[in-house]
Order: sequence, then C-alpha cells, then structure tokens
Amino acid sequence: MTRTCLSIVLAAGEGVRMRSSRPKVLHAIGGAPLIAHVLAAVHEVGGSTAVVVGPNAEVLTEAVADLMPSAEIAVQRERRGTAHAVLAAKDAIARGYDDVLVLFADTPLVRAETLAKLRAALADGAAVAVLGFRTANPTGYGRLITQDGELIAIREHKDASAAEREITLCNGGLMALRGDLALKILTKVGNQNAQGEYYLTDAVAIAREMGLKAVALEAPEDEVHGVNSQAQLAQAEALLQRRLRGAALDAGVCMVAPDTVHFCADTKLGRDVVIEPFVVFGPGVVVEDGARIRSFSHLEGAHVGPSAAIGPFARLRPGARLGAKVRIGNFVEVKEADIADGVAANHLSYIGDARVGEGTNIGAGTITCNYDGFDKHRTEIGAEAFIGSNSSLVAPVKVGDRAYVGSGSVVTADVPPDALALGRGRQAVKEGWATAWRGAHANRPKKARHKG
Ligand code: UD1
Ligand code: MG
Repeated sequence: MTRTCLSIVLAAGEGVRMRSSRPKVLHAIGGAPLIAHVLAAVHEVGGSTAVVVGPNAEVLTEAVADLMPSAEIAVQRERRGTAHAVLAAKDAIARGYDDVLVLFADTPLVRAETLAKLRAALADGAAVAVLGFRTANPTGYGRLITQDGELIAIREHKDASAAEREITLCNGGLMALRGDLALKILTKVGNQNAQGEYYLTDAVAIAREMGLKAVALEAPEDEVHGVNSQAQLAQAEALLQRRLRGAALDAGVCMVAPDTVHFCADTKLGRDVVIEPFVVFGPGVVVEDGARIRSFSHLEGAHVGPSAAIGPFARLRPGARLGAKVRIGNFVEVKEADIADGVAANHLSYIGDARVGEGTNIGAGTITCNYDGFDKHRTEIGAEAFIGSNSSLVAPVKVGDRAYVGSGSVVTADVPPDALALGRGRQAVKEGWATAWRGAHANRPKKARHKG
C-alpha cells in the first residue's frame, strides 16, 4: 500500500541578510525561484503540500499559488522557531498522513530521491528521520549526536558544549516525522534554550523519551546548501549548474567547455546536440536532436528544431520557434516568430512578430519593423522567398512565396508571390566625376584622417 504524505515547506524567514526588497525564497537559481526548486522536489514525491509563510507575505503567497496551485498556505504570525513554524500547519497535519516531511524553502538543492529515503526510514519503523551531512566547517549548524549508530539528539550550535561542537555530522534541516505522532511530538517542544526558540530539532530527543526510534541519513553537502546571503545564492547557482551540466553530458550532449555554459533547470536538450563554449540558456528552451548552438549565443523561451545551427552571437528571445535545419547566424535576433524548416538568416538581422516560410533566405541586415510606437504588427514571409540585404519590412506586411525583395528596400506594401519588390532610390552614375573632384583639390594637402 502506498503511504500518504504531507510536505511542509518553511518559508517564514525574513531573509534580512540578502539585503533585498524581494522575499528571499523568490531569488532565483537556474532561472527559477529557490522555493520553486523545493516545490518541484516535493511534487515528485507526491501527496499534499503546505507552505508556511510569515505575516505580510502577499508577494510570496501569490508566487506559491502560481507555482503550485494545490499548495495550501499557513501563516506563522511570529517567528518563534522551526517547530513553531511547522505547527502553523497543524490543521493540515491533523487531517492525518502517514508521513510528514519538513523542508526549508531556502534549501533548494534537495533531491526527490533523498526525500524518498527519509520516508523509507519511516516505513522501516523510525518515528523521526533526519537528513545529516558532513562538513569541514560545521559552525552554526545543529550537531547530530549519535550513540551505537542511533540518533539520540540534535544540539543547536549555540547550545552545544565544546565537545559537541567537535562533531562534524550536522543537521541539514530536513526531517520526516510519522504523521500520526507528529503533533504529539511537536507540541512537547519547549523553548528553554540559548535562542528562546521552539526548535524542530528537539523532536529527536522527545521521540526517544517516548520510546520511539530516530535515525539520521547522510546526504552530500550540496543537497542541504542553504541560502541566506547573495554569496550563498551564487554558491547554490554554481552547485546547480554543475549538476545540470553533468546531466546534459550524461544525456549525450557534447560540450567541450561545459563550465562556460549556463543552463536553466528546465532546459531541454536532445541527443547529439553540440553546445560550444559560452552559451547562456534562459528559462523555457528546447533544443532538438543534432542542433548546434555556437559560442556566445543567448537563448530564452525558444524552440530550436533538429539539426539547426544557431550563432555564434545569436539571440533567441521568447516565442522564437525554429524548424529543422534553420540557420540563425551572428548578430541575429529572433523574437515571437515561426521560422520554418531550412530558413537561413545568417547575419545582422531582427526578426520579430513574424512568420517565415520554408527555405526562405533572409539577407544580412534585414529588419522587421514591428513596432509603431503603440502597437506590435506582424510580418508574414512566404516559402522560398529571398529578402535582399539591408531591407526594412514595415509591418503589417506580407511577402509572398518565392518573391524577391531588392537589397536596401523599405517594404511598406504587400509583395505578391513570385514578384520583385524594389523600394529604394534609383542609382545615378556621373562618369568622370571623381577625377574632376580630385583635380579641383590638386594643390591642397589632405588633412590627417586620424584626427577626424
Ligand atoms: C536550522 C536547524 C539546524 C540546522 C540548520 C541547517 C533548527 C532549530 N535548527 O538552523 O539544526 O543545522 O537549520 O541549515 O531547526 N523558519 C520559519 N519560521 C521560524 C524559524 C525558521 O519559517 O520561526 C524557517 C526559515 O525561513 C528557514 C528555516 O526555517 O527556511 C530554518 O530556519 P533558520 O533560522 O535558518 O534555522 P537555522 O538556525 O539555520
Ligand atoms: Mg539557516
């Protein structure tokens, strides 16, 4: 029989050390808020979720509603410790679950597999399971006190004796409690300690006093990395990037300099994708099999079709949808545009709010003039068309299938299929003019050019 689970995510901290007006857990790593990573892990575990927020947490509450509409919000009016925070969700606990998981919203790198292990410890008979880790610098963390392989207590750093402070096995903060006992245990927690707070960590000693079993599992340090400052946010990002790069390489993506590639947690890459050095993926990017993303390209909200080639120095913005074998070259920007199979836009262009049909060639310097200062307008280009270099397509405008646009044209009216559009000044040629000009200036010294 599958066990039911309630995950309680603590997010009532003030985050003063971030020195930011944004709530701490809405700061992002891998393109998503810290709390989104925790909610994603919790979602994988399954069951119900409650998020504990502080007073006046409207922005955070709205973000949680967006990220996980099914999550219930519990408000902790005063910040009186982690056990007190968990009890803010006591109505949810009282509904009755087999397992109660407690997580911190500012500890974003925990894996769903690890949460499953904590739950497995409950299924094996423990009343409390704690996630520990070993660290070279344990200052500030609660220490796990074990005896004959059993967890007997957690001592907060500020309450620990000198001998206890020597312990390097620390509390990562996450905990699983047997659902039917969670309220019984937590309501026994007092605040007679160095910080005058209700410590969740006291659950271990209380469970022991009740004759119940507590266990500690060990996780790698990166999984319990907490974020309290901008520096720790940057460290969390670095840890996540390492993970994402490793996963991409394992999935068959080729990167010769993975440390220079920046991913988002939701970046999706196919097989035989090649990513050259110094590429940045913003949120919402999908790259299909065999595509190549060349150096210094920036992609966000874009879909890259199979065997397409992007960059170097290309920018794909949200709504860029590229078909198979599309080529987007240097200094080309694409936004909100459907680019069909085999289209080439190799140099210095802006294609926005547009549709480009199969096999069309977009010459260097082509610009879709999509904005009139008030509204955005669309440019529709057919298949197998040829847009000459340095053309401005003033939207709304259509260029038909197989049509040509002469270089340097400003296209303000629709171009029918198979036609040629020319929208530029006619060229004048004056034979011998240059010779006469030089003759008229024959006895004058040239000014040094470099002085401008
Ligand atoms: C906690 C653990 C400590 C562990 C460390 C790991 C306790 C008592 N101590 O200490 O053993 O080594 O995490 O990082 O649990 N929160 C609330 N309401 C409160 C208090 C805290 O929501 O009243 C939230 C915070 O926002 C944060 C989390 O709980 O996300 C942990 O609180 P924090 O004050 O950072 O605990 P630590 O002192 O770091
Ligand atoms: Mg902390």
